[in-house]
Amino acid sequence: MSNSDSIRLFFKKNKAISATAVADEAGINPSAFRNYLAGDRNLPEKHLPALLTVLKKYGFKEDEGTCKVITVLNHKGGVGKTTTTMNLGKALALLGKKVLLIDIDPQANLTQHCGVAQQVDKTIVDTLLNDEVMPVIDIEANFHLVPSELALATAESQLMTDVNGWFKLKNALKFVKSPYDYILVDCPPSLGILTNNALLASDEVVVVVETEYLAISGLGTITKHIDGIRRNSLNENINLLGLLFTKTNNTVVSKEIVKELSTLYKSKVFKTSIRRNISLVEAAGNGTDIFSYAEDSHGAEDYMKFAKEVVEK
Ligand SMILES: Nc1ncnc2c1ncn2[C@@H]1O[C@H](COP(=O)(O)OP(=O)(O)OP(=O)(O)O)[C@@H](O)[C@H]1O
Ligand SMILES: [Mg+2]
Repeated sequence: MSNSDSIRLFFKKNKAISATAVADEAGINPSAFRNYLAGDRNLPEKHLPALLTVLKKYGFKEDEGTCKVITVLNHKGGVGKTTTTMNLGKALALLGKKVLLIDIDPQANLTQHCGVAQQVDKTIVDTLLNDEVMPVIDIEANFHLVPSELALATAESQLMTDVNGWFKLKNALKFVKSPYDYILVDCPPSLGILTNNALLASDEVVVVVETEYLAISGLGTITKHIDGIRRNSLNENINLLGLLFTKTNNTVVSKEIVKELSTLYKSKVFKTSIRRNISLVEAAGNGTDIFSYAEDSHGAEDYMKFAKEVVEK
């Protein structure tokens, strides 16, 4: 992430800091500075040294916000979490971002989707249970994975008896975060201790919603769960980035759900929806992402559009 992106993110996270006061102190025209923060114009390089000096007094660290950790969540199964983690991640990498995917689901579907064989030396289990360094595999130059395995299922009960059980991922991420722009965590279909590890380590949450009636009912539980994490000071900075509709189609049900939830959740609904597309299923079956498998598909088009929206949010 560039200094410019980090500064914008710093102001987004610290709403109490006055942009006008900072601009005045740094000798920058306040209205030009506000336009820069809104993304409407660039800040001339010559202003950067003075600006950084002032911002540091307000607690800005030059590497602050360089990495955004995003949990991909829904305790309902089969809605498209893994497909989204994989293809959002690859789209971000294609946009020039450095991306790490973390598979924290004992089903290890993301690991399989990345084409990684089941018999890998080390997995997320070694990190969560034995505090080992995260085992990062290079899928491509800017696209990496921490794999999972079935043994993670039995690790859950061990984690629950550990006083730091909820903080294992957060603690481990401190050592791998710095080179990455985005870390995406693919959760299991539950709100248990593995998902809580992801939520405590994350800045943002993307809730994946399949557009069918039963998908709606659990959304209140998810938002309450995120609020609980925030209110109990387990992660005060966690933010619901948005709801992503997946497997949309032209049926009345699909359209009604999009309409109903858009009214309810307003700006928290991503403009992009992911259409139902068989190429996404086939890409997963072939152990690769949609851009490598079918770059002209609707799936590739939608996930690239979604990645651009995530970058701009
Ligand atoms: N947009 C889409 N169009 C068609 N099929 C899709 C789409 N998104 C996902 N799928 C398919 O739906 C199935 C479930 O998707 P996925 O594995 O991503 O869901 P999940 O939420 O991760 O599931 P789980 O809760 O089991 O982890 C897979 O077969 C996947 O290929
Ligand atoms: Mg999954």
